[in-house]
Amino acid sequence: MIPIYLNRMSMKDRFRGKDFLTLMDFSPIEIDYLLKVSSQLKLKRMMKEPHEYLLGRTIAMIFEKNSTRTRFSFQAGIAHLGAQSFYATPETMQLARGEPIKDTARILDRYCDALVIRTFGQEIVDEYAAYMKNPVINALTDLVHPCQGLADLLTIREHKGDFKGLKLAYIGDPWNVCHSLMVVSSLLGIDCYVALPKGWNPNQRIIKFAEEHAAVGNSSMIITDNLSEALSKADIVYANTFHSMGHKDIEARKVAFAPYQINDETIKLADEKCIFMHCLPGYRGEEMTNSVIEGPNSVVWDQGENRMHTEKAVLALTVA
Ligand code: CP
Ligand code: NVA
Repeated sequence: MIPIYLNRMSMKDRFRGKDFLTLMDFSPIEIDYLLKVSSQLKLKRMMKEPHEYLLGRTIAMIFEKNSTRTRFSFQAGIAHLGAQSFYATPETMQLARGEPIKDTARILDRYCDALVIRTFGQEIVDEYAAYMKNPVINALTDLVHPCQGLADLLTIREHKGDFKGLKLAYIGDPWNVCHSLMVVSSLLGIDCYVALPKGWNPNQRIIKFAEEHAAVGNSSMIITDNLSEALSKADIVYANTFHSMGHKDIEARKVAFAPYQINDETIKLADEKCIFMHCLPGYRGEEMTNSVIEGPNSVVWDQGENRMHTEKAVLALTVA
């Protein structure tokens, strides 16, 4: 519920010009508002109603890692909003010759109304944000994937209604997607179970944030090596790759994480009406079987679509 004193106008003012670097920077009320705007934009797209709220605006996109969903959902969404995007990889820019980020940032800020960036360290997106007046949008770092976290919430709400009291079980790399799920679960009252082999853990800063916020909202934030405990009666089963972009120890990870596969047997531990989610790209035969991703519980295509609607909401609200 949005408090009465936060009328539509004041909520919009809260977002204008704001960076979207991590969902840790947003309150549950602000996240709820982002989801409402996402749903409105999704409806407009379905009804083929024009929604060119960013006509004539320009959005820079720098991607230092590969992408299918994030790149195309942003570029399609930017076009729907009437703006234009400019996509580049760092090796095609003077960054490759050593031009500092702070110089690149200040120049892009003069041409473009926002920057969407996918890179490695969170400190890189933070540095762009420090040198740009216009919003910087995190399209994935090693630490977090806030665009994914927001789309995941919209998908959960569409399929399960409210968040409070739901149980989510995550298996896969304790990395960006896991971290954003822990953050949004703790903010919105979802009981979050992360099942990992012994010796593997999420980032300490994320654990601290998620445990503190789960305690405030009276929900659970459990990291366990017991897959059955995590999956038992879960409403949401979320799988992700065992080897994220940039990791070198791929074979060791496949071995360590293999007992955590979501397959026809393990998914039976979850609630029979559970939804199966995956940020994609997925590896059939590793974190899940073909039967699960193609099965009746899978909502992964809705989830992928929602990337576009939620990113459009972020842009429509933050671009001044
Ligand atoms: N889920 C996700 O971010 O996919 P891409 O890497 O294809 O963008
Ligand atoms: N954790 C994965 C997510 C890809 C969208 C990675 O960083 O490769």
